[in-house]
Amino acid sequence: MPTYAHITGWGMAVPERIMTNDDLAKIVDTSDEWIVSRTGIRERRIAGDKETTASLATKAAFRALDRTDLHPHDIDMVIVATATPEHLFPATACLVQDAIGAINAGAFDLSAACSGFIYGVSLASEAIRGGAIRNAVVIGSETLSRFIDWDDRETCILFGDGAGAIVLQASERPGGILASVMRADGSGGNLLSIPAGGSRRPATVETVHKKQHYIQMNGREVFRFATRVMADATRQVAEKARLRIEDLSIIIPHQANRRIIEAAARGLDLPMDRFFVNLDRYGNTSSASIPMAVVEAVEAGRITPGSRVVMVGFGAGLTWGALAVEWVAPERKISQAKRQQRRLRARFWGLRSVYRRFVRWIEGLIFGAHVPGDENDRFS
Ligand code: UT7
Repeated sequence: MPTYAHITGWGMAVPERIMTNDDLAKIVDTSDEWIVSRTGIRERRIAGDKETTASLATKAAFRALDRTDLHPHDIDMVIVATATPEHLFPATACLVQDAIGAINAGAFDLSAACSGFIYGVSLASEAIRGGAIRNAVVIGSETLSRFIDWDDRETCILFGDGAGAIVLQASERPGGILASVMRADGSGGNLLSIPAGGSRRPATVETVHKKQHYIQMNGREVFRFATRVMADATRQVAEKARLRIEDLSIIIPHQANRRIIEAAARGLDLPMDRFFVNLDRYGNTSSASIPMAVVEAVEAGRITPGSRVVMVGFGAGLTWGALAVEWVAPERKISQAKRQQRRLRARFWGLRSVYRRFVRWIEGLIFGAHVPGDENDRFS
């Protein structure tokens, strides 16, 4: 009997702090009128001092797990798609794995920028359908505000922070992730990048001085690329899933620019109301934009059991991709009491992490090994 991969949980987390277009107009030479008319964005969320890519991802993952009957021990794989990881290594996914107590899971980050969530779900669903794993958590999480040049009006108006997560579970019931498309064109890598901070251009006084640790973008070229691939990828994934474009219930596009989504709608000959748009409130949250839009589309009743959904995104790399999904998951909320019980358990798992570090410290004292970074508790 074939195995299918179903989305059974979904959750999102955004920072509390809202930055409006008017706030931005106080920093750079721009206006609410320009930003709304050229992008559709009205406001975005900005991470506070204590919020990080892992902390937002962890919150989103807990909320997604809250909707399922899974225990964290049941999770086989944690994927965090992110362009703004906490470190080059360890992977942000390992920090999340530890925080949610997924002690039986493998965990890794996925670097495909705004297409990362699509890539992650595609990989995890194939692993489930192939029988290698049964349960996975796929998260898109970003703190892009930390990589923005707040003097560059062409980029600082676009991006925001947030996280979205889904739980994928194996099932014998047909449906779930029907098909996926993953594509890349590395020849366009220079169009959208953070040039320094990797092995090619490690951090120096010069790289900092030249602002090479911030996002640099050729907006017009990315725009042209995006309008081309959004409609193409949607068509390709629909064809693979044997769905007709006109039969799609809803399309969840990457939330980069309303004009890009409108161009995709024209390219597919679909009305705009077939697309879910929430970029007016969050801006472009890169890998988090699609899962956050999925969560809000479900909450708004735009995705219901039986919905045929296409999720489609593009981003740095260049990368792009799409997923076709038959939504079968019933709305299943876990009771408040059970949720509280889980939170307590999560705290316990946090203590487990402290305990393991303590044991390592004692071992270091006994055997003379020094674990760099432990003294600062950098990964908590
Ligand atoms: O996840 C993928 C991430 N990236 C994207 O999706 C970006 C895709 N590109 C875009 O969304 C658009 O290209 C932008 C929103 C970035 C720019 O919109 P545009 O319509 O392509 O504007 P433009 O670059 O052609 O610039 C038009 C004018 C320029 O002035 P001049 O040269 O015509 O005098 C810009 O200097 O608008 C000016 N401009 C601004 N004016 C006010 C650029 N940014 C701003 C701004 N406020 N923030």
